[in-house]
Amino acid sequence: DETEKIREALLKWYGLNGRDLPWREEEEDVEVRVYRVWVSEVMLQQTRVQTVIQYFNRWMSKWPTIHSLAQASLEEVNEMWAGLGYYRRARFLLEGARKIVAEGDQFPKTVSQLRKIPGIGDYTAGAIASIALKEAVPVVDGNVIRVIARLKAISANPKDSLTVKKFWKLAAQLVDPFQPGDFNQALMELGATLCTPTSPSCGTCPVSDQCCALSISMHDSSVVVTDY
Ligand code: ADE
Repeated sequence: DETEKIREALLKWYGLNGRDLPWREEEEDVEVRVYRVWVSEVMLQQTRVQTVIQYFNRWMSKWPTIHSLAQASLEEVNEMWAGLGYYRRARFLLEGARKIVAEGDQFPKTVSQLRKIPGIGDYTAGAIASIALKEAVPVVDGNVIRVIARLKAISANPKDSLTVKKFWKLAAQLVDPFQPGDFNQALMELGATLCTPTSPSCGTCPVSDQCCALSISMHDSSVVVTDY
């Protein structure tokens, strides 16, 4: 069906076009995997990928594990964060690492356990669970809302909390059960690179055949689908 076609096409596209980013490197140790995805996703929430790469690599050479981060001082963490902004996020990372270590290494292994850590909201919990723990849960950010809105030709205000809720549901139905991390990153990456807010590159999009917005606008040029 359509869902299966979308999954297949997106995963294939991501396999061929996904960027080699330091936090996507294979990592055997599940706790290190969680830690690396956590740090990268928090950094990516306010900063472009190209900028995050350097910050991420510097952070990881100083604090390669959650245990090493837990030993750091707030001053050191803030210094490492300088230029990324929203220093509260850096403090949450430190507090989260300390909490996990203090609680005797009860490492969070599910979305609901992750949500109990300060600073980890729905987005970060979904990203860590799907990418690092292979849990078949969705991740929804602005890019994902736009991509799904177009695929399903849904017109809605992306800032409305009911809209966001609706898209978490849609994304949960869409996520690939076997490769949730790759699938979620493919959706985000598609939104960032091809399915952009204005002038999307539908000509090279892997899911253009499944895109309801594109098929509508081909028949009715008055339908504009660029503003969500
Ligand atoms: N934006 C935020 N996190 C991302 C990820 N893991 N892959 C692609 N884009 C992202």
